[in-house]
Amino acid sequence: MVSKKILVLGGAGYIGSHVVCELLDKGYEVLVYDNMSTGQSENLFEKAGFIKADILDVDSLQKAMQGVDAVIFFAGKKAVGESMINPEMYAQNNLIGAVNVLNAMCANGVKNIIFSSSAAVYGIPQYVPLDENHPLNPINFYGFTKWEMERLLAWYDQLKGIKYAALRYFNAAGYDVQGRVRGREQNPQNLLPIIAEVADGKRKCLQIFGSDYDTPDGTCLRDYIHVNDLASAHVLALEALFAGRDSMTLNLGTGKGVSVKEIVASAEKFLGRKLPVEYAQRRPGDPAVLYAKADKAKELLGWEPKFVSVDEIVSSFLKKH
Ligand code: WQD
Repeated sequence: MVSKKILVLGGAGYIGSHVVCELLDKGYEVLVYDNMSTGQSENLFEKAGFIKADILDVDSLQKAMQGVDAVIFFAGKKAVGESMINPEMYAQNNLIGAVNVLNAMCANGVKNIIFSSSAAVYGIPQYVPLDENHPLNPINFYGFTKWEMERLLAWYDQLKGIKYAALRYFNAAGYDVQGRVRGREQNPQNLLPIIAEVADGKRKCLQIFGSDYDTPDGTCLRDYIHVNDLASAHVLALEALFAGRDSMTLNLGTGKGVSVKEIVASAEKFLGRKLPVEYAQRRPGDPAVLYAKADKAKELLGWEPKFVSVDEIVSSFLKKH
C-alpha cells in the first residue's frame, strides 16, 4: 500500500482532476489545493482532502506543504489569447506563483515536483515531430511563462536539490473514460470543448480556422493526447522521482497529427448528425502542423498512450455522464 501524500495544486481543474482520480486509484493520499477560479466543485473527490486557496497566498501554501512527499503543479493560467492581452496576470499567477510554490517546498523539505509544461514552449516548429531538444522559442506570453517556470525548476534542482518532471503536453483532449470527472470547463478556448458547445446549441457554429494549409485536407494538424493518458504519465513520473531518478523534461503526445476536419468528422459520427461549420481565416500564430516525438517518455517511464484513436478521444469528450 502506498502511503505517500501528494499535494495537487489546481487539482479541481480539467487535467488536475483526472490526475487526482489516478492517484486515488493507486492508493496515494491526496490533498487538492485550488482557488476555484476555474476549478469545478464537481471535480472534487470525497477521498481527497481539499483546501480552497490561491498559490499567491504564501501562508496557506506553507501550511498545505506540511507532511507532503510531492507536489503536482497545475495551478496556472492557460489561455494563450488572454496571456497576450493581460501578461501581468500571467506573470503574477504563473511566475510569482511558481516562485511561491518552490520556496514553500524548500521551507518544508519537499523534494519532488511534477510540473505541467506545454508544447507552447517550442513556438513555431522548425521540424516535426518535435523532440525535447527542439529550440525553445515561445510565440505567446503563456508559452514564455511555461519556459521560465522550467528554468526556475532547473535552478532549484541545482541549488536546492528539488527533483522535477516537466511534462510538455501537446493538445490535451477527452474526458475520463470511466466518467468519474463530471465538471466541464467554463468559457472554453480549445477546439473540442468548442465543438461540444456547438453540439449542445450553446454556440451557433464552429469556425474552422484556415482550410488552405499545406496539409492533406488543408486544415491544421495537432497531436491530441487523451487526458487519462496524461494522468498515467504523471503517476509514472512521480514514481520515477520517488525511486530516486533524476529530473526530466518530457513531451507527452501520441506522435500523430490529426486534422481539424478529422476531429469534426469524428464528432459528427458520434453525434449522428452534421454540425454547423463555417470556414474562417487562419488564426494568427497557428502553426500548420504540430506533433510530438514522445519516445523519451516511453524510454524513461515506460509510458505509452492507450487512447489513441480519434474516435475514442472525441467520444469521451462528447459523452454526457
Ligand atoms: C486546435 C486546432 C485551431 C478552435 C492550444 C495552445 C497550446 C496548448 C493547447 C496549453 C487548431 C483549430 C480551434 C476553433 C478551429 N495549451 N480551431 N476552430 O492552438 O493547437 O493549442 O491549446 O498548454 O499551447 O496553443 O489548440 O484547441 O485552440 O486548436 O479551427 O474554434 O483547432 O486552428 O488548428 P492549439 P486549439
